[in-house]
Amino acid sequence: MRFISTISTLVLSATLAAAQSSSSPAPPVSLYNPDFALVRSKVAAALTATGTCKFAPGGGSCPENAPCCSGAGYCGSDPAFCADNCQVTGSFASDSCWPLPMAVNLDDQFKDKARLIHIKDFTGYPTSADWVIDRSPGTREHAVIEDDKLVLKLNRVEKHPETGGGIGATVHSSRWMKYGTIEARFKTASNMPGTVSSFILISPISGDEIDFEVVGKDPSDMQTNFYYRVQPGNKVDYSHGVHVNVNLDTSLDYHTYRLDWTPTEMKWWFDGELKRTTLASEVVGSFPDTPMRIAFGIWDGGYGEKGTTEWAGANTSYEPNESREYQLSIDWVKITPMTPENATDPWPGAKYIKQMENGLNNGNSNGGIGNGGGNPNSGNSGNGNGVHGGGPVVGGDGGWMGGNAASGLHSARSVVVGGAVAIATVLATVLLA
Ligand SMILES: *[C@@H]1O[C@H](CO)[C@@H](O)[C@H](O)[C@H]1NC(C)=O
Ligand SMILES: *[C@@H]1O[C@H](CO)[C@@H](O)[C@H](O)[C@H]1NC(C)=O
Ligand SMILES: *[C@@H]1O[C@H](CO)[C@@H](O)[C@H](O)[C@H]1NC(C)=O
Repeated sequence: MRFISTISTLVLSATLAAAQSSSSPAPPVSLYNPDFALVRSKVAAALTATGTCKFAPGGGSCPENAPCCSGAGYCGSDPAFCADNCQVTGSFASDSCWPLPMAVNLDDQFKDKARLIHIKDFTGYPTSADWVIDRSPGTREHAVIEDDKLVLKLNRVEKHPETGGGIGATVHSSRWMKYGTIEARFKTASNMPGTVSSFILISPISGDEIDFEVVGKDPSDMQTNFYYRVQPGNKVDYSHGVHVNVNLDTSLDYHTYRLDWTPTEMKWWFDGELKRTTLASEVVGSFPDTPMRIAFGIWDGGYGEKGTTEWAGANTSYEPNESREYQLSIDWVKITPMTPENATDPWPGAKYIKQMENGLNNGNSNGGIGNGGGNPNSGNSGNGNGVHGGGPVVGGDGGWMGGNAASGLHSARSVVVGGAVAIATVLATVLLA
């Protein structure tokens, strides 16, 4: 699921056309998810060059008691700002951002509904949930654990505000993995053109990504791909996609998809058969090598830019009415990191807990927002005090495909500084409407 700007749409279409007229390179997969594109472009616009946090007081880097610069350019001291997409360059110190919570061995049969949580309710602590539902436009919940399955749903009860298509769900792991094996057994969404099912590793920080994707247009075509450190606005290398014909309709039954990722190679497997190997030595300079999260997604590729619809096959059918639902159903997932986190070590560690508490204790003096995020019409950051403020603070980009932890976390006790917080609220409102 990859950022695509309007500017690069033409390039993409051309790439797509070229790809279709030859066997290689394959069409770009997963680049078109409009939810991700929207978030990434807004975040990119909010980020400054280097060394400063966009909305920090005085325009420099974040102050000591609100040391972390969120992906959208706001300063704070709690997980909403310090975890996940915390920007090292705009933060108070090079080690202000919390370390990423790294993967432990997980063999998840989806027996426990409580291990799936919506990003709005997620504290950032990986011990509290294994899976986080990203934001999607609209209010309906599209991801659930039911009957021991993780089910991601796509329908058009509410239309996607950008594309007019349906709204699906993406879910990502609460932990990050650098090298290891991920395996899942799932049934792809549909053999109807337009629907897209994905099982991927992705980093919204580095832009690294490794994919399995199946488009309903041809559910026997397992599309494998990877990207290297693609940031918003940067050039995307589309040349790594490979189509694998698995000779059966993956939407009719459950099948296993496995990826091995080591410093020297990537291997994609289907039902226990090795289907593709890419050696790091073959792709020097573009081999994914940063921590990523494990993510599943279903989305409507049938609406949007012309190239997207062509790739996805057609406008997705919502006959006989908008309640028609497509489901990606995941039976189990197994995560085996090459170097599992020592689960006895509490995250993020004493140093960072203290840093957060220092911030919270200074909340009053910084006008931290609390009462619902401040008044959007005033230039200052609301009347709550940082410690006792009531409402959830949405101070970020609202990224639902992993964007920024500053989105959606309940930061009622956070310190948030900077007069532009009201703008953050407006931005978030626009994004999340
Ligand atoms: C697909 O939907 C778009 C947006 O609603 C519309 O403009 C286009 O004509 C549709 N294409 C087809 C082939 O129906
Ligand atoms: C949509 O179609 C289904 C299947 O025909 C039907 O059961 C349902 O009542 C319809 N919903 C609406 C809102 O028309
Ligand atoms: C894991 O952490 C515990 C407690 O800090 C420590 O005793 C143990 O040696 C650690 N194990 C590894 C493999 O690092």
